[in-house]
Amino acid sequence: MGRIVVQGGSPLRGSVKVSGAKNAVLPIMAASLLAAGESMICGLPWLADVNTFCRLLAGLGVRCTRLVSERCLLLDCRELESLEAPYEYVRRLRASFLVAGPLLAREKYVRIALPGGCAIGSRPVELHLKGLAAMGAQVQIEHGWVEARADRLQGTSIYLDFPSVGATENIMMAAVLARGVTTIDNAASEPEIVDLGNFLNVMGARVTGMGTRVIRIEGVESLHPAAHTVIPDRIEAGTFMVAAALTGGEVRVENVIPEHMAAVTAKLREVGVHVEEAPAAIRVRGNGHLAACDIKTLPYPGFPTDMQPQFAVLLSLARGTSVITETVFESRFAYLDELKRMGANLRVEGRTAVVRGVRKLQGAQVKAGDLRAGAAMVLAGLAAHGQTEIGCIHHIDRGYEDLVGKLAGLGASIWREDDL
Ligand code: UD1
Repeated sequence: MGRIVVQGGSPLRGSVKVSGAKNAVLPIMAASLLAAGESMICGLPWLADVNTFCRLLAGLGVRCTRLVSERCLLLDCRELESLEAPYEYVRRLRASFLVAGPLLAREKYVRIALPGGCAIGSRPVELHLKGLAAMGAQVQIEHGWVEARADRLQGTSIYLDFPSVGATENIMMAAVLARGVTTIDNAASEPEIVDLGNFLNVMGARVTGMGTRVIRIEGVESLHPAAHTVIPDRIEAGTFMVAAALTGGEVRVENVIPEHMAAVTAKLREVGVHVEEAPAAIRVRGNGHLAACDIKTLPYPGFPTDMQPQFAVLLSLARGTSVITETVFESRFAYLDELKRMGANLRVEGRTAVVRGVRKLQGAQVKAGDLRAGAAMVLAGLAAHGQTEIGCIHHIDRGYEDLVGKLAGLGASIWREDDL
């Protein structure tokens, strides 16, 4: 396993291009299973999670071909050889569970390992399964496996107790081939749900209301393969915006949909950072002075939980006391112990973290506990005095394409040391 080494103190300057959204591409790859043909997904981010998902699909019989120069992925889903998603994948990549809806809808059967907990919370899947069962699937859980079967799913009204992103996506993908109309009430409204709905509609589905709390899906008899370009990654964009603010630099973040960044932009402005929006870019200018502010994570359009760790770093260097409330994942504060090792002044009480701003962070050896916590450690290193070494960087590789190269391109003193 390698490490990322950062020599802190350089203000970031220049422009950086955001890659395609990890959280959009994975469900769209799953959705391609719905049509017996070749779908093409473009604007692809080169990420470890995308590779893992390709291997999972290959195990089902899908031929995945990368068209590297065009950043596209051709998924040949003509013939499926297996309807089983093993624990090996589901454990490493929870989004693997998203093949449940499409396989059940197309092949009337799926056997999929039950995901366990992960670093940020217990992450159950009962909302996914309740939705499939409400559409008439027989769902059984035995020996750590979920088995679901249904001759043809039946459209129905589904209310989600929580607007779960994954459950909304799985139910949408199951419902597109169901008999009749399905409505999902209290659905997730994240931009990645809209992107999935758009892809499904290009495949011939009839999905409306995505992006709102009520999604309506009119089932069709069959779908055809389609081509689609994924939206930009709003969390990667947000990470660069915070990096610019933290280092007192000036960065133009390109390939962004500014509306997707509204909560992050509002909070950056609240702490005193200058943010200027252009049609597909955002310019962020930090002035070295940060004011405290409170953050509460919520489903979209609320403040994204995936930006909470990066903001904790920012607020660690703000003047005054900030309160961060995490409402989406119950154990998403574990990384704060690493941040304390860099000199941050933090106290956690349940789902709340109280952050007292300090004047400086100090470089230290830390580890990336999960994907976004890892990015937060890199950001802390950029702002810290001296050298920071971040271990367990496989977490960062899961969801950031060439983070080190992109930050180096902005003038950061940062490099990777990969073990031989
Ligand atoms: C997705 C994102 C992840 C992001 C999260 C919340 C992908 C691949 N990942 O994850 O980056 O952090 O949305 O924005 O898109 N829950 C239940 N029962 C369920 C399902 C979820 O209680 O059946 C709970 C979870 O434990 C969690 C909350 O709902 O507390 C949100 O989870 P969910 O929206 O489902 O997140 P994911 O789709 O796993």
